[in-house]
Amino acid sequence: MKALALGGAGQFGKRVAQMLIASDIVSEIVIAGRNLEAARSAATELGSKASAIHVDILDEHQLASIVEGCDIVINTAGPEHKVVLPALRAAIKAGVNYCDLCAHGPTTEKALDLNAAAKSSEVTAIVGIGLVGLSNLRMMHAASQFDQVEDVRFCVFQVVSMYGDSPKAILAQWRKAGYADASWQFMMNLVKGKVRLYRDGRWVDVDPLDDAVRVTLPQGGEMVAVPIAWPESITLPRALRGVRSVSTVYGMYPPQLNEIYCKLGRRIARGELDESAAAFSLFEYLADQPAASVAAPGGCADWIDWVEAVGIKEGKRVRYKGWPVGGWDSTKGPLATAALKILRGDVRARGVLSPESCLDPMPFFAEVAQNAGVELPDGRLLEESFEVLTK
Ligand SMILES: NC(=O)c1ccc[n+]([C@@H]2O[C@H](COP(=O)([O-])OP(=O)(O)OC[C@H]3O[C@@H](n4cnc5c(N)ncnc54)[C@H](OP(=O)(O)O)[C@@H]3O)[C@@H](O)[C@H]2O)c1
Repeated sequence: MKALALGGAGQFGKRVAQMLIASDIVSEIVIAGRNLEAARSAATELGSKASAIHVDILDEHQLASIVEGCDIVINTAGPEHKVVLPALRAAIKAGVNYCDLCAHGPTTEKALDLNAAAKSSEVTAIVGIGLVGLSNLRMMHAASQFDQVEDVRFCVFQVVSMYGDSPKAILAQWRKAGYADASWQFMMNLVKGKVRLYRDGRWVDVDPLDDAVRVTLPQGGEMVAVPIAWPESITLPRALRGVRSVSTVYGMYPPQLNEIYCKLGRRIARGELDESAAAFSLFEYLADQPAASVAAPGGCADWIDWVEAVGIKEGKRVRYKGWPVGGWDSTKGPLATAALKILRGDVRARGVLSPESCLDPMPFFAEVAQNAGVELPDGRLLEESFEVLTK
């Protein structure tokens, strides 16, 4: 079968393409991007199943001619608020199945509006199935631990100074390219203006800085975190009957970055900066800081994420925390696994689908771990804790 990899020469695109090429079901993969030289070099690296083509996703006619004749579109181009909707529309129009890494709530909301069109074209389109997307499934799994779940929250803590190479090296790469990478443009967009959360049974728009919270890491230690516009609070309330609140919060280390991050988001909303310039500004600040002398809370090396949920279990009010073990919770694994499931006909639903509307959490996690070749200690996918609350 033939796969079209939009953004296939990017950081995540290449890793996903590698996993797909390893499967017998994929006979051909086309690496597509605006920089044909980069696409060609990725295709050469990937081997004989891969070829390269020039495409600008924003050029509707060019994209339509390339999507035609493919069995699936795998979209890892970014930032997603610019490229997801045109790519999804092209796939639906051509009647070609689709999946992507969309982690942007407002874009997901618009993508779900294309559900009827996708159904009538008999297309299966899974939006947002990376590490963000596994988050939705992990929250569904958490909710299933209760007789009635009330509040469910996805928490992320990142030691930004440990992201990739050093801040100085990252800035040098961005200066060479002329812009910040798609992931950081996207991260800056997440606090642009107000963020939509689900609270007390309805959607509300909040200012991230005004709504900062303190959360306790599973391994101990506290952090400040701000709400971000990931898709969980958009899609989960549709699947979880009776849930009262759904949110995603993100805390940066060193902690003063949280305020700088949100203030840069406000400047983007006022049109004073674009996302790339805002990412430069954040990393320029970071590059000027002395190396961190204080260890991050919870002994966190670079990234920790976990689910917190509160609800009623066997007549008691209980708090749940759950986090992955063994490192199977990557970004490339879920997308490649979802794409292979679509190609094999294992996803029967048609339409624009959030991960939780078409994938069963625990079997899917196991499949992701297997496809990624991750050895699990005791075969356990998650570490989980339950605490009975007295009020
Ligand atoms: N769901 C999740 O868990 C998750 C996790 C990580 C990342 N992401 C998202 O995944 C996306 C990719 O991240 P990355 O770090 O791999 O970024 P990256 O290395 O910058 O790759 C982005 C790719 O998109 C292509 N692209 C951008 N605009 C395009 C356009 N108009 N037409 C065609 N191709 C275009 C670029 O190629 P050309 O410049 O050659 O066009 C590039 O190869 C980001 O948006 C990020 O937010 C999601």
